[in-house]
Amino acid sequence: MTRFKIVTSRKTLYLCVAAFLGFTMAVLAGTFDPNLQDFPDPTGAVRTVSTTGSVDTTNPFFQSLGTNGRACISCHQPGDAWTVTPKHIRERFEASDGQDPIFRPVDGANCPSADVSTEEAREHAYSMLLHKGLIRISLAVPNNAEFEVTRVQDPHNCPETTPQQLAMFRRPLPSTNLGFLSTVMWDGRENAPGQSINMDLMTQAKDATLGHAQAAVAPTDLQAAQMVSFELALFTAQSRDHAAGKLNVHGAQGGPEALSTQPFHIGINDVLGHDPSGAPFDPNAFTIFKNWTDPDSIPREEARESVARGEKLFNTLPIPITGVGGLNDALNQPLIMGTCTTCHDAPNAGDHSVSLPINIGITDFPALAPLDTRGLPVYTLVCKATGQKFRVTDPGRAMISGKCADIGKTKGPILRGLAARAPYFHNGSAATLADVVSFYDVRFHLNLSEQEKADLVAFLRSL
Ligand code: HEC
Ligand code: HEC
Repeated sequence: MTRFKIVTSRKTLYLCVAAFLGFTMAVLAGTFDPNLQDFPDPTGAVRTVSTTGSVDTTNPFFQSLGTNGRACISCHQPGDAWTVTPKHIRERFEASDGQDPIFRPVDGANCPSADVSTEEAREHAYSMLLHKGLIRISLAVPNNAEFEVTRVQDPHNCPETTPQQLAMFRRPLPSTNLGFLSTVMWDGRENAPGQSINMDLMTQAKDATLGHAQAAVAPTDLQAAQMVSFELALFTAQSRDHAAGKLNVHGAQGGPEALSTQPFHIGINDVLGHDPSGAPFDPNAFTIFKNWTDPDSIPREEARESVARGEKLFNTLPIPITGVGGLNDALNQPLIMGTCTTCHDAPNAGDHSVSLPINIGITDFPALAPLDTRGLPVYTLVCKATGQKFRVTDPGRAMISGKCADIGKTKGPILRGLAARAPYFHNGSAATLADVVSFYDVRFHLNLSEQEKADLVAFLRSL
């Protein structure tokens, strides 16, 4: 399968020549499609379209702008719905003896000072990246923090991981569908108050080049703007499912083409009532497969009805939401009778339509079954004012705000192209979509039937 590589100047030339020849021949043959083709994934295929009409591989997104050979594309690959997956990371390891630019100690290794001198050493040093596709995000405890880190339990015994400087292992978020974002990064740290998301994405592109690519100087405003406009033009979604077939036929609106016409503005469908247009919250946030509910009119009836039932469950299955920091306390309601779309409210995109850092328990230690948190450090945080104690694998938003109330809070990501990008949650603790659904079943006492679980999974993997 095509892996996207960084384009060096010489290769650019070859690529241009090849692209020109390919273009000419394809146009002659009448088959030219400027956008990316379907990439096979475990349950079908994922597809990206660019509203510019082509995916421009000469964009700085593909260029090594730092000192370690990395580019954005090193960790944001189209075939993995613009993140990276353990399977493909493993393939790159094998093909390069662990020297591909994604394998750099700065944040690819479990520890920046790890021994990476031999292939065997690299296998060990990059185990979190190889097994779960996790990048080591190092953040200092803010000066104004309301808490103290009183204990660090680090399975990697990394000298750089200290009570003042924590290491958080996180999945790269997809660098696609970004027009639906209300906040940038799992902890929202690239958001400047009052600044537009597009400006936040410019800052993000500069910081990513300085950090991941170890650049001495930030990209220029022009380069950052080019990267952001490249990203903002991309729309990615599952296009085909092995069981349900093509996802945009018989009245269904799956795939990236329909997604690229999906309206969005910050607050468009907000349960907290922040929609600037004043429109009320509609729990039926997903309407992609509503036409597949009509039985016996369509082929592949059983599989398609399952997807449609899953969508309906996602919109309507009652979830007794309790103990979610940032939601129950914010609304001053200890019990909210909600649905999946209470939190995943952006229409047909599935993130929060307003910035909403919340704690659903993914960072708790010990974690609820079936989450797998092996290899993650565990931090004990004690709030100075109250003495309250937390054990978490990632303090989340609290590492930015310093607030005890923000411990364990993250954002809900965009839920498209899911099938191409396991494992799930910010720390990769859910290996499959079935594990995600089981987590919710346990966390919110849903008592889902096997059929309901299967329907939810069929829906999620068709997004
Ligand atoms: C070494 C791997 C790596 C490289 C290289 C990399 N990223 Fe990322 N990217 C990540 C990780 C990990 C996250 C999530 C980090 C977090 O939230 O703490 C992320 C998050 C993002 C997001 C946030 C999306 C969202 O939903 O909030 C964007 C946008 C992004 N990256 C774009 C870029 C761009 C542009 C570049 C090149 C300048 C780049 N990345 C280079 C790993 C990488
Ligand atoms: C109380 C709010 C809330 C509810 C209710 C909720 N989610 Fe989530 N969801 C989140 C948050 C927050 C995350 C990100 C958590 C993390 O990784 O730290 C998330 C993550 C996910 C992910 C993983 C996405 C990824 O890229 O890794 C999936 C899939 C998902 N939710 C599906 C569901 C389904 C299905 C339901 C209903 C059964 C549901 N959610 C109900 C808040 C919620």
